[in-house]
Amino acid sequence: MGSGLALQLSKRNEVRLGSRRKEKARAVAATIPGVGGGTNGEVASWCEVAVLTIPFDTIVSVKALAPFLSGKLVLSAINPLRREGKVMQYALSDHSAAEMVSYALSGARVATAFNNVPAAFFRGHNVDADVLVASDRRKTYDDAAKLIGTVEGLRPLYVGPLSEAQSVERLTVMILNAADLAGVPRFAVKFVPR
Ligand SMILES: NC(=O)c1ccc[n+]([C@@H]2O[C@H](COP(=O)([O-])OP(=O)(O)OC[C@H]3O[C@@H](n4cnc5c(N)ncnc54)[C@H](OP(=O)(O)O)[C@@H]3O)[C@@H](O)[C@H]2O)c1
Repeated sequence: MGSGLALQLSKRNEVRLGSRRKEKARAVAATIPGVGGGTNGEVASWCEVAVLTIPFDTIVSVKALAPFLSGKLVLSAINPLRREGKVMQYALSDHSAAEMVSYALSGARVATAFNNVPAAFFRGHNVDADVLVASDRRKTYDDAAKLIGTVEGLRPLYVGPLSEAQSVERLTVMILNAADLAGVPRFAVKFVPR
């Protein structure tokens, strides 16, 4: 997910990929023109906006980035999912991954973004999807929307405060199961005005 996003975002933004291992970040970054790489800490201290694309079960690791991300916009693409037999299920009950990130990074401006866009879409030519943004402040959404809007085919949509993040993350469960049950490789979300 991280490298796919970097591929798209780097067309109109300066992007660096973070990793626990600097060599890995650099090696992956070298496959995308204009993208740099560093440790998570280095990249977090350099960036204006951070996009978190780590598995939910490693979410505690974001706490270590708190000193570097204070006051910055942090977009969480993290979906708490677990497989139960043939279907995916949401792994939390009364809160969301984005709220956990906000708690861990108490000085940062946290929003959801990209949760419902399959990584494979970023490797294709037509991305074409809506990006649902939950954030406590409209200004946080506006800043997130500015970045999301730099990727052709992505439309940012404000869905309300961070307490709505669970709905955004849960939607990923639904579209994964719907695609699976329909025998389609992947679905993204697109709201249709009438
Ligand atoms: N894949 C998708 O289509 C998609 C779409 C929307 C949202 N998402 C969300 O994006 C997140 C990442 O998904 P993914 O498919 O890209 O997962 P992934 O390839 O399994 O993991 C992404 C990266 O997480 C880092 N990571 C793994 N364990 C870690 C740990 N203990 N501490 C810190 N970092 C760790 C690894 O980076 P390093 O080894 O380089 O540190 C790894 O490259 C998930 O929360 C997922 O729900 C995924």
